[in-house]
Amino acid sequence: MSGSSTIYRSSTTAPVNIAVIKYWGKRDTALNLPTNSSLSVTLSQKSLRTHTTASCSESYSGPDSLILNGDKEDIQSSKRTQACLKHLRSLRQQLEAKDTSLPKLSKLTLRLVSANNFPTAAGLASSAAGFAALVRAIADLYELPQSPQELSLIARQGSGSACRSLMGGYVAWRAGTKEDGSDSLAEEVASVSHWPQMRALILVVSAEKKGVPSTAGMQTTVETSTLSPARFKDIVPKRMQDIEKAIQERDFETFARITMQDSNSFHAICLDSWPPIHYLNDVSRAAMNAVETANRKAGKLIAAYTFDAGPNAVIYYLEENAHKVAGVIKNILPWTSGWEGEFGEAIPPNEFGSLEQKTLMTLKAGVSRVICTAVGGGPEKVENHLIDEQGNAIRD
Ligand code: ADP
Ligand code: DP6
Repeated sequence: MSGSSTIYRSSTTAPVNIAVIKYWGKRDTALNLPTNSSLSVTLSQKSLRTHTTASCSESYSGPDSLILNGDKEDIQSSKRTQACLKHLRSLRQQLEAKDTSLPKLSKLTLRLVSANNFPTAAGLASSAAGFAALVRAIADLYELPQSPQELSLIARQGSGSACRSLMGGYVAWRAGTKEDGSDSLAEEVASVSHWPQMRALILVVSAEKKGVPSTAGMQTTVETSTLSPARFKDIVPKRMQDIEKAIQERDFETFARITMQDSNSFHAICLDSWPPIHYLNDVSRAAMNAVETANRKAGKLIAAYTFDAGPNAVIYYLEENAHKVAGVIKNILPWTSGWEGEFGEAIPPNEFGSLEQKTLMTLKAGVSRVICTAVGGGPEKVENHLIDEQGNAIRD
């Protein structure tokens, strides 16, 4: 069917990623080009995901729109969203110019409807999954031939970390050196199947909107932190090499050490900024303590903590150590929500995994929810649409 009443639709789901080498600093704010490369683990969409439908039709009028979790978002004044839409439209235009029989979708109003199955703007990487899903859904709607790597350049302009959510497994974002950003893109370092045993336990300390947003925070750091140049120039490039090797060799101890060192280095440059930026709190420090205790008892590194721009802890560990790492937390927080589902149910509570009393009490009082997840795949096309056949938004 074609003609003015046709409603074109395409839907996708996209994952969250949590970096083990952090992106914190831009060398170009307009193009969203980073001061350093970064590396993340894509997390399973069985636990955290964004679901987005992109649609266009001659019957739609007015400006492009986005409904996010049931509320209209102001995308007209979002330069980043506009940059993504413009780029995707121009790629569609090129296709239409080459093949004049194609419907002129690039000229039509876009309606976007999206839902995150976890709190938005709470330090759980909603912008990463959100922009990856937006770009993938529109690219599919426009039937673009571009690879995930080429699309990562577009998602990067929405939110830097989003470029890493266009792929599954272990993903590097190469900082690149070109001024136009054409070499600043994501690359798969290893697939999920290379090291599928990686697990992540997220301790949600706060699902509130975060204090200092990443975009503003990293600018303050670039402008004021005296420690940050060494991080950008020497520390991160060396760590990127070492952690990539550790991933290739499935060397968890090296992976864990670098992950914790890099999280600490990122929070150190935040504290070294002026005015100082504090993202960690007592609950975060209790989570660090729990990880250190598990490692001490095991006599080797079996768990690694990492924190983004907020107090929530992400703890990486291998499936074989679920009992010694996540099991200790499950034993002290059995009634906290989030242990249900495939990954959580596989964690045996550990009655013998003792923690210091203060750590235990702080975690009990401060963790509002847990998320049990694992390394997972990239965006997936789905037939379940959030816009009906008449072009109206449906709630997820
Ligand atoms: P977070 O820590 O959750 O990534 P940010 O403040 O960095 O928080 O980003 C939140 C912003 O990302 C939202 O205000 C919205 O503009 C954008 N965003 C989040 N989810 C989506 C989505 N599903 N689709 C499009 N944009 C989204
Ligand atoms: C601490 O990707 O949210 O999570 O590009 O300004 O949108 P913008 O920033 P964003 O920053 C993420 C920062 C981080 C580290 C990381 O994911 O690498």
